[in-house]
Amino acid sequence: MTSWASIAFVLGLGLLAVDASAPWWQTASFYQIYPRSFKDSDGNGIGDLNGVTEKLEYLKEIGVTATWLSPFLRSPMADFGYDISDFKEVDELFGTMEDFENLVARAKQLNVKIILDFVPNHSSDECDWFIRSAAGEEKYKDYYIWHPGFVENGVRRPPSNWVSVFRGSAWEWNEQRQEYYLHQFHKKQPDFNFRNPVVREEMNNVLRFWLEKGVDGFRVDAIYHAFEVEADENGNYPDEPRNEWTNDPDEYGYTHKIYTVDQPETPHLVYEWREILDQFQREHGGDERILMVETWSPIDIVMHYYGNETAEGAQIPFNFQLITNLNADSDAYHYEYLINNWLSKMPSGKSANWVIGNHDKNRVGSRFGAERIDLFNILLLTLPGCSITYQGEELGMLDGYVSWEDTVDPQACNGHEADYMWNSRDPARTPMHWTNGKLAGFTAGSETWLPVAADYAERNVQTERGIPLSHLNVYKRLQQLRQEPAIQQGAAEIKAVNGYVLAVERYLSGNYVYISLLNIFEHIENVNLNDVFSGLPSTFQYALVTEKSIRQLGDKVSSSSITLMPYESVVLRSTTTI
Ligand code: GLC
Repeated sequence: MTSWASIAFVLGLGLLAVDASAPWWQTASFYQIYPRSFKDSDGNGIGDLNGVTEKLEYLKEIGVTATWLSPFLRSPMADFGYDISDFKEVDELFGTMEDFENLVARAKQLNVKIILDFVPNHSSDECDWFIRSAAGEEKYKDYYIWHPGFVENGVRRPPSNWVSVFRGSAWEWNEQRQEYYLHQFHKKQPDFNFRNPVVREEMNNVLRFWLEKGVDGFRVDAIYHAFEVEADENGNYPDEPRNEWTNDPDEYGYTHKIYTVDQPETPHLVYEWREILDQFQREHGGDERILMVETWSPIDIVMHYYGNETAEGAQIPFNFQLITNLNADSDAYHYEYLINNWLSKMPSGKSANWVIGNHDKNRVGSRFGAERIDLFNILLLTLPGCSITYQGEELGMLDGYVSWEDTVDPQACNGHEADYMWNSRDPARTPMHWTNGKLAGFTAGSETWLPVAADYAERNVQTERGIPLSHLNVYKRLQQLRQEPAIQQGAAEIKAVNGYVLAVERYLSGNYVYISLLNIFEHIENVNLNDVFSGLPSTFQYALVTEKSIRQLGDKVSSSSITLMPYESVVLRSTTTI
């Protein structure tokens, strides 16, 4: 144990060591399922709830303890379910409410927690609330953000220069109401008015409804968009300042987002929801219900979502630091900085989470190179706190090729063919690879909603089960190691050995020390761990090797001389306890 870590420990900073009686989510292995692309049970080429239920045992096989399901509620599918028209109904494309109840029941038998995607920022324009709001019905009039815009020289223009994430003005004219409504995403996703207490209560009831159905928590979608700046005394909204790097007024980056995201009220909304979850638990018992919130905000703002002195916030404000700040050229010092920065900024007593991909980002192997797939799985699963894996990353799935003609993601379709690949989220959403058979075993039908990626015959569950050091088997081995006390509850120290190699030490008195060593680049590296950590046992054993390794599982090695092959990542375990 090094002096820095001992000091942190003695001071009770509590950021690195987890209590043995810690709540379930603190060291959970989360797995994100994008239901459309996970498993199709009825042959229509689109994944569904029964498909998820059928594959819950697979989650057990890979050591996953909780799964977050992307939306499956009633939706016209303009944004593939993130445009909800009924917050309390299952879309028939995905099945029925009974199918969902069966899914929850089976998950409970298997002890897999179910987390729902809660999409509070907007509904679909086909939601009854929006239809009534557009019609000007008294109760619903202020459910959304409306404004008549301005007429200049006989021409009507939108209320402000705000731009939608999916390109173009964030204001859409509604003929019936003769006003513009705000949509920060697709024009079929009108933004709710969270300053209206009735809207807040509606959304609180949505949470209660699904809690009653037995879910263990919610992933909260796009929370940083929930509030916009309040209208001024004349009911108007200010323009956002221009960003100079683009002259395209339709580009999201055209304006600097000072009025449309990260408003000071937003974390308080999350505190309110947390109280609903805690109250539910007090009344109904059971394990803690959790919130995982999606906010692509600066780290200091993200930290507010954990709560403050008087209120609890989300247990898991997603840590996107590794997604937003790392690229294929980043060196080990950069990794070290980003990881320790999160740990040191986290409020005392809170717990870390690690994310490297999701349904909105290109696949890890496509962003960082296929040679770094195991590296990221090892990192995520051996850092202190919970890990969040996007479906297929355990197999090392890469982005699938989706032609412009086959592209369906609105973020890409609203743009141009010339650069659609930069914007499209379809490549990370191609169907899951279950087998090397027809359509990767995803469906018994004859087509799939997005094309199956070309490399499915090598990268699939069935084939990888049979290859000892496949990505899948490395992932499973990692999950076994995660059960070890030092990795479950131990302290952690994260250090760059040099620019090329990152080391993560996990230790707990009375237990073996674990060290993950990640060689990020293509050189052979020789590492003396005693230069990096003090007080280490002198001999270690390979507790996890990958296909890049020349050493075998169980081989002994001196802590003073460890050779790493190009891009090799391993986990070492001391041969004696500390
Ligand atoms: C979130 C989701 C994304 C969706 C958007 C609008 O960022 O992850 O898929 O398009 O919110 O709901």
